[in-house]
Amino acid sequence: MSAPAQAHFWLTGIGELTTNAAVDGDPCGTISDAAVLVRDGSIAWTGRADAAPVGAEGVPVVDAAGRAVIPGFVDSHTHLVFAGDRAAEFAARMAGETYAAGGIRTTVAATRAASDDELRSRVRTLVDECRAQGTTTLEIKTGYGLDVESETRLARLAAEVTEEVTFLGAHVVPAEFAGRADAYVDLVVGEMLAAVSPHARWIDVFCEVGAFTAAQARRVLDAGRAAGLGIRVHGNQLGHGDGVALAVDRGAAAVDHCTFLTDADVAALAGSDTVATLLPGVEFSTRQPYPDARRLLDAGATVALASDCNPGSSFTSSMPLMIALAVREMGMTPAEAVWAATAGGARALRRTDIGRIAPGARADLVMLDAPSRVHLAYRPGVPLVRRVWKDGVAV
Ligand code: NIG
Ligand code: FE
Repeated sequence: MSAPAQAHFWLTGIGELTTNAAVDGDPCGTISDAAVLVRDGSIAWTGRADAAPVGAEGVPVVDAAGRAVIPGFVDSHTHLVFAGDRAAEFAARMAGETYAAGGIRTTVAATRAASDDELRSRVRTLVDECRAQGTTTLEIKTGYGLDVESETRLARLAAEVTEEVTFLGAHVVPAEFAGRADAYVDLVVGEMLAAVSPHARWIDVFCEVGAFTAAQARRVLDAGRAAGLGIRVHGNQLGHGDGVALAVDRGAAAVDHCTFLTDADVAALAGSDTVATLLPGVEFSTRQPYPDARRLLDAGATVALASDCNPGSSFTSSMPLMIALAVREMGMTPAEAVWAATAGGARALRRTDIGRIAPGARADLVMLDAPSRVHLAYRPGVPLVRRVWKDGVAV
Protein backbone atom coordinates (compact mmCIF):
# COMPACT_ATOMS: atom_id res chain seq x y z
CA MET A 1 0.00 0.00 0.00
CA SER A 2 1.49 3.36 -0.91
CA ALA A 3 -0.18 6.57 0.23
CA PRO A 4 -0.03 9.58 -2.06
CA ALA A 5 1.78 12.59 -0.65
CA GLN A 6 -0.72 15.07 -2.11
CA ALA A 7 -3.74 16.45 -0.29
CA HIS A 8 -6.41 14.89 -2.54
CA PHE A 9 -7.31 11.22 -2.16
CA TRP A 10 -9.86 8.70 -1.01
CA LEU A 11 -9.09 6.66 2.07
CA THR A 12 -11.25 3.55 1.89
CA GLY A 13 -11.47 0.14 3.49
CA ILE A 14 -11.49 1.74 6.96
CA GLY A 15 -12.62 -0.95 9.40
CA GLU A 16 -13.52 1.53 12.12
CA LEU A 17 -13.60 5.31 11.60
CA THR A 18 -13.66 7.55 14.68
CA THR A 19 -15.19 10.83 13.50
CA ASN A 20 -15.97 12.45 16.88
CA ALA A 21 -19.11 13.77 15.19
CA ALA A 22 -21.42 12.55 17.97
CA VAL A 23 -24.43 10.44 17.02
CA ASP A 24 -26.91 8.45 19.12
CA GLY A 25 -24.99 8.45 22.37
CA ASP A 26 -21.67 7.61 20.68
CA PRO A 27 -19.41 10.64 21.26
CA CYS A 28 -16.82 9.04 18.95
CA GLY A 29 -19.27 9.05 16.03
CA THR A 30 -18.03 5.64 14.93
CA ILE A 31 -18.59 4.48 11.33
CA SER A 32 -17.76 0.88 10.40
CA ASP A 33 -16.53 -0.04 6.89
CA ALA A 34 -15.98 3.64 6.14
CA ALA A 35 -14.37 5.91 3.58
CA VAL A 36 -13.05 9.48 3.75
CA LEU A 37 -12.43 11.93 0.92
CA VAL A 38 -9.58 14.39 1.44
CA ARG A 39 -9.50 17.44 -0.79
CA ASP A 40 -7.24 20.52 -0.53
CA GLY A 41 -6.08 19.47 2.91
CA SER A 42 -9.58 19.20 4.36
CA ILE A 43 -12.16 16.48 4.83
CA ALA A 44 -14.67 16.64 1.97
CA TRP A 45 -16.77 13.54 2.68
CA THR A 46 -17.14 10.76 5.25
CA GLY A 47 -19.51 7.80 5.38
CA ARG A 48 -19.95 4.12 4.69
CA ALA A 49 -17.59 2.89 2.00
CA ASP A 50 -20.43 1.22 0.12
CA ALA A 51 -22.06 4.65 -0.28
CA ALA A 52 -18.89 6.48 -1.32
CA PRO A 53 -18.49 7.66 -4.91
CA VAL A 54 -14.91 6.33 -4.90
CA GLY A 55 -13.19 6.61 -8.25
CA ALA A 56 -15.84 8.89 -9.72
CA GLU A 57 -13.44 11.82 -9.94
CA GLY A 58 -10.37 9.81 -10.87
CA VAL A 59 -8.91 10.62 -7.47
CA PRO A 60 -6.17 8.35 -6.04
CA VAL A 61 -7.35 5.73 -3.55
CA VAL A 62 -5.56 4.53 -0.41
CA ASP A 63 -6.82 1.21 1.00
CA ALA A 64 -6.77 0.99 4.81
CA ALA A 65 -7.35 -2.78 4.51
CA GLY A 66 -9.72 -2.92 7.49
CA ARG A 67 -7.59 -0.83 9.83
CA ALA A 68 -8.94 1.79 12.23
CA VAL A 69 -8.61 5.52 11.44
CA ILE A 70 -8.86 8.21 14.10
CA PRO A 71 -8.35 12.00 14.12
CA GLY A 72 -4.75 13.11 14.65
CA PHE A 73 -3.95 13.57 18.33
CA VAL A 74 -4.23 17.11 19.69
CA ASP A 75 -1.58 17.47 22.39
CA SER A 76 -2.75 20.65 24.10
CA HIS A 77 0.03 20.82 26.72
CA THR A 78 3.79 20.52 26.10
CA HIS A 79 6.97 22.32 27.12
CA LEU A 80 9.11 21.33 24.11
CA VAL A 81 11.64 24.17 23.93
CA PHE A 82 14.42 23.43 26.39
CA ALA A 83 18.03 22.27 26.63
CA GLY A 84 19.60 19.51 28.72
CA ASP A 85 17.74 16.72 30.43
CA ARG A 86 17.04 15.67 34.00
CA ALA A 87 17.61 11.94 33.85
CA ALA A 88 19.59 12.08 37.11
CA GLU A 89 16.65 13.78 38.83
CA PHE A 90 14.34 11.05 37.49
CA ALA A 91 16.67 8.31 38.74
CA ALA A 92 16.82 9.95 42.18
CA ARG A 93 13.03 10.09 42.24
CA MET A 94 12.77 6.44 41.37
CA ALA A 95 15.11 5.83 44.32
CA GLY A 96 12.70 7.61 46.68
CA GLU A 97 13.00 11.41 46.21
CA THR A 98 9.75 13.32 45.73
CA TYR A 99 9.01 15.68 42.83
CA ALA A 100 8.76 19.32 43.87
CA ALA A 101 9.11 21.25 40.58
CA GLY A 102 12.34 22.84 41.86
CA GLY A 103 14.21 21.17 39.00
CA ILE A 104 12.58 23.65 36.61
CA ARG A 105 15.41 26.06 37.51
CA THR A 106 17.98 23.48 36.34
CA THR A 107 16.37 23.44 32.91
CA VAL A 108 16.15 27.25 32.91
CA ALA A 109 19.93 27.46 33.38
CA ALA A 110 20.62 24.96 30.58
CA THR A 111 18.14 26.63 28.23
CA ARG A 112 19.48 30.14 28.78
CA ALA A 113 22.96 28.85 27.94
CA ALA A 114 21.92 27.13 24.69
CA SER A 115 22.15 28.74 21.25
CA ASP A 116 19.13 29.33 19.01
CA ASP A 117 20.33 26.62 16.65
CA GLU A 118 20.70 24.10 19.44
CA LEU A 119 17.20 24.80 20.74
CA ARG A 120 15.75 24.82 17.23
CA SER A 121 17.28 21.48 16.37
CA ARG A 122 16.06 19.92 19.63
CA VAL A 123 12.51 21.20 19.27
CA ARG A 124 12.34 19.98 15.68
CA THR A 125 13.52 16.53 16.72
CA LEU A 126 10.81 16.41 19.39
CA VAL A 127 8.14 17.62 16.97
CA ASP A 128 9.13 14.85 14.55
CA GLU A 129 8.90 12.38 17.44
CA CYS A 130 5.36 13.63 18.22
CA ARG A 131 4.26 13.44 14.59
CA ALA A 132 5.54 9.88 14.21
CA GLN A 133 3.30 8.93 17.13
CA GLY A 134 0.21 10.51 15.59
CA THR A 135 0.17 14.01 17.07
CA THR A 136 -0.91 16.49 14.39
CA THR A 137 -1.50 19.56 16.60
CA LEU A 138 0.84 20.59 19.41
CA GLU A 139 0.67 23.36 21.94
CA ILE A 140 4.12 24.50 23.12
CA LYS A 141 4.80 26.64 26.19
CA THR A 142 7.69 28.90 27.03
CA GLY A 143 8.71 28.83 30.68
CA TYR A 144 12.35 27.77 30.69
CA GLY A 145 13.62 31.29 29.96
CA LEU A 146 12.12 33.42 32.74
CA ASP A 147 13.70 36.69 31.61
CA VAL A 148 12.49 39.02 28.88
CA GLU A 149 15.04 38.06 26.26
CA SER A 150 14.94 34.31 26.90
CA GLU A 151 11.14 34.03 27.06
CA THR A 152 10.85 35.99 23.80
CA ARG A 153 13.39 33.70 22.18
CA LEU A 154 11.54 30.55 23.29
CA ALA A 155 8.21 31.91 22.02
CA ARG A 156 9.79 32.80 18.68
CA LEU A 157 11.32 29.33 18.30
CA ALA A 158 8.05 27.63 19.30
CA ALA A 159 6.18 29.75 16.73
CA GLU A 160 8.45 28.29 14.02
CA VAL A 161 6.82 24.88 14.58
CA THR A 162 3.28 25.54 15.86
CA GLU A 163 0.53 28.13 15.83
CA GLU A 164 -0.37 27.18 19.43
CA VAL A 165 2.28 29.01 21.45
CA THR A 166 1.73 29.72 25.15
CA PHE A 167 3.59 32.32 27.21
CA LEU A 168 4.48 30.72 30.56
CA GLY A 169 6.77 33.38 32.03
CA ALA A 170 4.97 32.65 35.32
CA HIS A 171 6.27 29.08 35.53
CA VAL A 172 8.31 29.55 38.72
CA VAL A 173 10.08 32.54 40.27
CA PRO A 174 13.63 32.53 38.81
CA ALA A 175 16.63 32.37 41.17
CA GLU A 176 17.51 36.05 40.68
CA PHE A 177 14.06 37.05 42.01
CA ALA A 178 14.15 34.67 45.02
CA GLY A 179 12.00 36.15 47.81
CA ARG A 180 10.63 38.80 45.44
CA ALA A 181 7.81 37.00 43.68
CA ASP A 182 5.63 40.10 43.32
CA ALA A 183 8.46 41.99 41.65
CA TYR A 184 8.85 39.08 39.21
CA VAL A 185 5.12 39.15 38.46
CA ASP A 186 5.48 42.90 37.73
CA LEU A 187 8.09 42.00 35.12
CA VAL A 188 5.94 39.18 33.65
CA VAL A 189 2.83 41.34 33.24
CA GLY A 190 4.84 44.34 32.03
CA GLU A 191 7.89 44.22 29.81
CA MET A 192 7.92 40.43 29.34
CA LEU A 193 4.28 40.18 28.24
CA ALA A 194 4.73 43.08 25.83
CA ALA A 195 7.75 41.36 24.23
CA VAL A 196 6.31 37.83 24.08
CA SER A 197 2.64 38.40 23.23
CA PRO A 198 3.24 39.06 19.49
CA HIS A 199 4.54 35.46 19.23
CA ALA A 200 1.88 33.77 21.39
CA ARG A 201 -1.79 32.82 21.35
CA TRP A 202 -2.12 31.91 25.05
CA ILE A 203 -0.91 32.84 28.51
CA ASP A 204 -0.49 30.27 31.30
CA VAL A 205 0.51 30.40 34.97
CA PHE A 206 1.56 27.72 37.47
CA CYS A 207 -0.81 28.37 40.40
CA GLU A 208 0.58 26.09 43.10
CA VAL A 209 2.34 26.24 46.47
CA GLY A 210 5.99 26.89 45.56
CA ALA A 211 5.08 28.70 42.33
CA PHE A 212 2.44 31.50 42.24
CA THR A 213 -0.45 32.37 44.58
CA ALA A 214 -4.00 32.80 43.33
CA ALA A 215 -3.67 36.60 43.57
CA GLN A 216 -0.43 36.59 41.55
CA ALA A 217 -1.85 34.11 39.04
CA ARG A 218 -4.93 36.25 38.57
CA ARG A 219 -2.78 39.28 37.77
CA VAL A 220 -0.94 37.25 35.13
CA LEU A 221 -4.12 35.93 33.52
CA ASP A 222 -5.88 39.28 33.48
CA ALA A 223 -2.86 41.02 31.98
CA GLY A 224 -2.58 38.33 29.33
CA ARG A 225 -6.21 38.64 28.41
CA ALA A 226 -5.89 42.44 28.21
CA ALA A 227 -2.99 41.87 25.77
CA GLY A 228 -5.25 39.72 23.57
CA LEU A 229 -4.13 36.26 24.69
CA GLY A 230 -6.38 33.33 25.60
CA ILE A 231 -5.87 31.99 29.10
CA ARG A 232 -4.99 28.59 30.60
CA VAL A 233 -3.73 27.46 34.00
CA HIS A 234 -1.46 24.82 35.56
CA GLY A 235 -3.16 23.92 38.83
CA ASN A 236 -3.91 21.35 41.52
CA GLN A 237 -0.89 19.25 40.52
CA LEU A 238 1.00 18.77 43.78
CA GLY A 239 -1.85 19.31 46.25
CA HIS A 240 -5.23 20.96 46.73
CA GLY A 241 -5.21 24.63 45.78
CA ASP A 242 -6.82 27.56 44.03
CA GLY A 243 -5.88 26.83 40.40
CA VAL A 244 -9.12 25.20 39.30
CA ALA A 245 -11.37 27.77 41.00
CA LEU A 246 -9.34 30.60 39.50
CA ALA A 247 -9.35 29.07 36.02
CA VAL A 248 -13.12 28.64 36.06
CA ASP A 249 -13.69 32.11 37.53
CA ARG A 250 -11.56 33.74 34.81
CA GLY A 251 -13.13 31.63 32.02
CA ALA A 252 -9.87 29.85 31.12
CA ALA A 253 -9.97 27.51 28.13
CA ALA A 254 -8.36 24.79 30.25
CA VAL A 255 -6.91 24.00 33.64
CA ASP A 256 -4.23 21.36 33.45
CA HIS A 257 -3.14 18.62 35.90
CA CYS A 258 -6.32 18.54 38.12
CA THR A 259 -4.83 15.78 40.24
CA PHE A 260 -6.03 17.03 43.65
CA LEU A 261 -9.66 18.19 43.41
CA THR A 262 -12.33 18.97 46.00
CA ASP A 263 -16.00 18.32 45.28
CA ALA A 264 -16.36 22.08 44.75
CA ASP A 265 -13.58 22.01 42.10
CA VAL A 266 -15.30 19.16 40.27
CA ALA A 267 -18.67 20.93 40.39
CA ALA A 268 -17.10 24.18 39.17
CA LEU A 269 -15.49 22.42 36.20
CA ALA A 270 -18.71 20.58 35.37
CA GLY A 271 -20.65 23.85 35.30
CA SER A 272 -18.13 25.64 33.08
CA ASP A 273 -16.58 25.70 29.61
CA THR A 274 -13.14 25.18 31.13
CA VAL A 275 -11.65 21.86 30.03
CA ALA A 276 -9.96 19.69 32.68
CA THR A 277 -6.75 18.53 30.97
CA LEU A 278 -5.26 15.46 32.60
CA LEU A 279 -1.56 14.70 32.18
CA PRO A 280 -0.95 11.12 33.30
CA GLY A 281 2.64 11.11 32.05
CA VAL A 282 3.36 13.28 35.11
CA GLU A 283 1.96 10.80 37.61
CA PHE A 284 3.72 7.97 35.78
CA SER A 285 7.06 9.81 36.00
CA THR A 286 6.69 11.21 39.51
CA ARG A 287 4.95 8.29 41.24
CA GLN A 288 2.10 10.55 42.32
CA PRO A 289 -1.52 9.34 42.43
CA TYR A 290 -3.28 9.60 39.07
CA PRO A 291 -6.11 12.12 38.61
CA ASP A 292 -9.61 10.66 38.84
CA ALA A 293 -10.99 11.08 35.34
CA ARG A 294 -14.08 9.01 36.15
CA ARG A 295 -15.16 11.47 38.83
CA LEU A 296 -14.84 14.40 36.40
CA LEU A 297 -16.64 12.62 33.57
CA ASP A 298 -19.47 11.41 35.80
CA ALA A 299 -19.97 14.97 37.04
CA GLY A 300 -20.22 16.21 33.44
CA ALA A 301 -16.86 17.98 33.05
CA THR A 302 -15.05 18.00 29.70
CA VAL A 303 -11.80 16.05 29.94
CA ALA A 304 -8.76 16.28 27.65
CA LEU A 305 -5.58 14.22 27.74
CA ALA A 306 -2.16 15.70 26.96
CA SER A 307 1.47 14.63 27.34
CA ASP A 308 2.93 17.62 29.27
CA CYS A 309 6.14 16.61 27.51
CA ASN A 310 8.95 18.30 29.48
CA PRO A 311 12.35 17.21 30.82
CA GLY A 312 11.27 17.16 34.47
CA SER A 313 7.87 15.72 35.28
CA SER A 314 6.96 13.87 32.04
CA PHE A 315 9.59 13.32 29.37
CA THR A 316 7.35 11.51 26.92
CA SER A 317 5.62 12.76 23.80
CA SER A 318 3.44 9.67 23.42
CA MET A 319 -0.31 10.30 23.24
CA PRO A 320 -0.94 6.53 22.88
CA LEU A 321 0.77 6.11 26.27
CA MET A 322 -1.55 8.79 27.75
CA ILE A 323 -4.55 6.86 26.43
CA ALA A 324 -3.30 3.58 27.88
CA LEU A 325 -2.64 5.18 31.29
CA ALA A 326 -6.00 6.97 31.32
CA VAL A 327 -7.80 3.71 30.65
CA ARG A 328 -5.77 1.54 32.99
CA GLU A 329 -5.28 3.99 35.86
CA MET A 330 -7.89 6.74 35.66
CA GLY A 331 -11.20 5.00 35.05
CA MET A 332 -11.70 6.06 31.43
CA THR A 333 -13.10 3.77 28.75
CA PRO A 334 -10.99 3.42 25.59
CA ALA A 335 -13.57 5.48 23.66
CA GLU A 336 -13.50 8.27 26.27
CA ALA A 337 -9.72 8.33 26.28
CA VAL A 338 -9.41 8.50 22.48
CA TRP A 339 -12.02 11.28 22.42
CA ALA A 340 -10.13 13.17 25.15
CA ALA A 341 -6.83 12.89 23.23
CA THR A 342 -8.38 14.25 20.04
CA ALA A 343 -11.65 16.21 20.41
CA GLY A 344 -10.88 16.99 24.06
CA GLY A 345 -7.55 18.56 23.12
CA ALA A 346 -9.27 20.57 20.39
CA ARG A 347 -11.78 21.90 22.96
CA ALA A 348 -8.91 22.78 25.29
CA LEU A 349 -7.45 24.88 22.47
CA ARG A 350 -10.89 26.22 21.52
CA ARG A 351 -10.50 24.83 18.00
CA THR A 352 -13.29 23.38 15.85
CA ASP A 353 -11.18 22.63 12.75
CA ILE A 354 -9.26 19.76 14.38
CA GLY A 355 -9.97 16.74 16.60
CA ARG A 356 -12.70 15.37 14.34
CA ILE A 357 -13.07 13.78 10.93
CA ALA A 358 -16.03 15.51 9.34
CA PRO A 359 -16.59 17.67 6.26
CA GLY A 360 -14.83 21.01 6.65
CA ALA A 361 -12.35 19.82 9.28
CA ARG A 362 -8.63 19.68 8.53
CA ALA A 363 -7.52 16.34 7.13
CA ASP A 364 -5.43 15.37 10.17
CA LEU A 365 -5.69 11.58 10.23
CA VAL A 366 -4.03 8.62 11.90
CA MET A 367 -4.24 5.08 10.55
CA LEU A 368 -3.61 2.45 13.21
CA ASP A 369 -2.05 -0.92 12.70
CA ALA A 370 -5.13 -2.35 14.43
CA PRO A 371 -8.79 -2.92 13.61
CA SER A 372 -10.05 -0.71 16.45
CA ARG A 373 -9.07 2.32 18.55
CA VAL A 374 -9.46 0.07 21.62
CA HIS A 375 -6.05 -1.41 20.75
CA LEU A 376 -4.37 1.88 21.78
CA ALA A 377 -5.08 0.92 25.40
CA TYR A 378 -5.29 -2.83 24.93
CA ARG A 379 -1.77 -3.08 23.45
CA PRO A 380 0.20 -0.56 25.56
CA GLY A 381 3.70 0.24 24.42
CA VAL A 382 3.22 -1.23 20.94
CA PRO A 383 3.83 1.23 18.07
CA LEU A 384 0.37 1.08 16.48
CA VAL A 385 0.52 4.37 14.55
CA ARG A 386 1.05 3.24 10.97
CA ARG A 387 0.39 6.38 8.90
CA VAL A 388 -0.18 10.03 9.74
CA TRP A 389 -1.56 12.79 7.52
CA LYS A 390 -1.50 16.46 8.50
CA ASP A 391 -3.62 18.76 6.34
CA GLY A 392 -3.99 15.79 4.01
CA VAL A 393 -0.25 15.42 3.48
CA ALA A 394 1.51 12.22 4.59
CA VAL A 395 3.89 12.99 7.45
O1 NIG B 1 3.61 20.82 33.90
N1 NIG B 1 3.99 22.01 36.72
C1 NIG B 1 4.82 22.75 36.25
N2 NIG B 1 5.53 22.58 35.15
C2 NIG B 1 5.79 21.34 34.49
C3 NIG B 1 7.00 20.70 35.02
C4 NIG B 1 8.18 21.26 34.43
C5 NIG B 1 9.48 20.69 34.94
O2 NIG B 1 9.54 19.93 35.94
O3 NIG B 1 10.46 21.05 34.28
C6 NIG B 1 4.60 20.45 34.52
O4 NIG B 1 4.60 19.38 35.14
FE1 FE C 1 3.05 21.57 32.20
